[in-house]
Amino acid sequence: MEQGQATTMADRRLSDGRWLRIPGPTVVPPRVLAAMTHEMIPHRGPEMQRLLGGIIEKAKTVHETRQHVLVWPGTGSAGWEAAIVNLLSPGDRVVATVCGAFGKRFAEVGTRFGLDVRPLAVHWGQAITPEAFAAALDDAGSVKAVFITHNETSTGVTNPLPELARVANRAGALVIVDAVSSAAAMPLKVDEWELDWVLSGAQKAWMCPPGLMISAISERAVAASRTSGYPRFFWDVESMLKAVAGGSTATTAPVSMLYAFNTALGMILDEGLEQAYTRQARLGELTRTGVRKLGLELFAEPGYESASLTAFRPPRGMAAKALRDRVRARTGIEIAIGQGDIADQVNRIGHMGWVAAPEIEATLEAVRAAVTEDDRL
Ligand SMILES: Cc1ncc(COP(=O)(O)O)c(C=O)c1O
Repeated sequence: MEQGQATTMADRRLSDGRWLRIPGPTVVPPRVLAAMTHEMIPHRGPEMQRLLGGIIEKAKTVHETRQHVLVWPGTGSAGWEAAIVNLLSPGDRVVATVCGAFGKRFAEVGTRFGLDVRPLAVHWGQAITPEAFAAALDDAGSVKAVFITHNETSTGVTNPLPELARVANRAGALVIVDAVSSAAAMPLKVDEWELDWVLSGAQKAWMCPPGLMISAISERAVAASRTSGYPRFFWDVESMLKAVAGGSTATTAPVSMLYAFNTALGMILDEGLEQAYTRQARLGELTRTGVRKLGLELFAEPGYESASLTAFRPPRGMAAKALRDRVRARTGIEIAIGQGDIADQVNRIGHMGWVAAPEIEATLEAVRAAVTEDDRL
């Protein structure tokens, strides 16, 4: 079953008729929402053991790993902190890829934790190349870890993760990956690419509400956690692994979110990973073709455009906010503006998760009407 095609376009509207075409939170399928209404179960008992065990197995399949997957209550930013406090110690040197607002923030979080962060910054809209990454690692000398933003949600750029991970592994650095807007939307081969901590949040291509932080964690990362110099309780990976081995979580499980995630994982695997990634890539292509046809300029460097969202410049003389507001007022479709320094220079259309072609076509038509002042919509 192709999940994106499984229901009608109307099903994917919000109850007030609006459409969510922002790059997260994404549209949550009714089946996932319904799963959240499950009554509470004892958070330590056989039902939880089955639920959690099933989730971890399915999430391992999506991450293509035989090592560990853990879930905590939280969002993507929680994943940054969890990776830092488990794997590193104050003063450790890290190289951080900065090609947009989220990479910048991840690097800043590292600095707040007292790490010696060496940012590799490129113009927003560009990708991080393996060559530049290798040079940055060489310049930095002895590096304990790297922070890689797989998909930069502020610019619609996907960095070449397998190649970047290869460079980092050659340098003996732990590979920490922000996969917040890539997980479940594009391939993530944790074992093959030798990634150590891959974090994401439920509210993107996982098709869930915000509230769950998902992390794939390597054995090498678990070993590194034993020598980390940070105090931690909630995020402690070994406590969580021990609890999960016993069929529960270290602290009270986010029961409703777990039911949601279990159902969403089932939908992703029913569709099939390859099919889901192909659908996402096609939606990206469809969006970019439509944007180009409107004479608008794509923001991402060619060759690195994201399958989960598309960023583009509004027409000359029109602010991104004005375009967003016009689209909203005419059609009830919610597209996004940019972030940080490029907030008013960029619009973004999210196409990750529970999405099919018709609503992208409708969104492109709404953008067309907004930029041409066509009042028929
Ligand atoms: C790439 C990326 N990293 C990190 C975050 C931060 O996640 P959160 O807002 O869920 O804490 C986001 C949020 O959109 C993101 O897109």
